[in-house]
Amino acid sequence: MSGDLRIRGFERKHPVHLLVNGKPVTAYEGETLHAALIAAGILSLKTSRVTQEPRGVFCGMGVCHECLVTINGVTGIRACMTLVQDGMKVETHEP
Ligand code: FES
Repeated sequence: MSGDLRIRGFERKHPVHLLVNGKPVTAYEGETLHAALIAAGILSLKTSRVTQEPRGVFCGMGVCHECLVTINGVTGIRACMTLVQDGMKVETHEP
């Protein structure tokens, strides 16, 4: 397979600005936080307590809870089920 793989007719909406672990990340209105984090190259959201290996989004549909993050000080929020909002402060690797 080769060539242009973009989805025809898809347009990004207005940019929104997040702080992820203290670093600025630009996302787009209508995206999930999960999508914005992946687009920013942030794939590891926590570390396995058993193997110490990085973990991240698995199901992408709210079932597995592998994507829990802290948003504006509230812990345990699923990144895959949360739409980005301008000014969000996100912390990964919650305790
Ligand atoms: S990735 Fe499974 S609940 Fe978010």
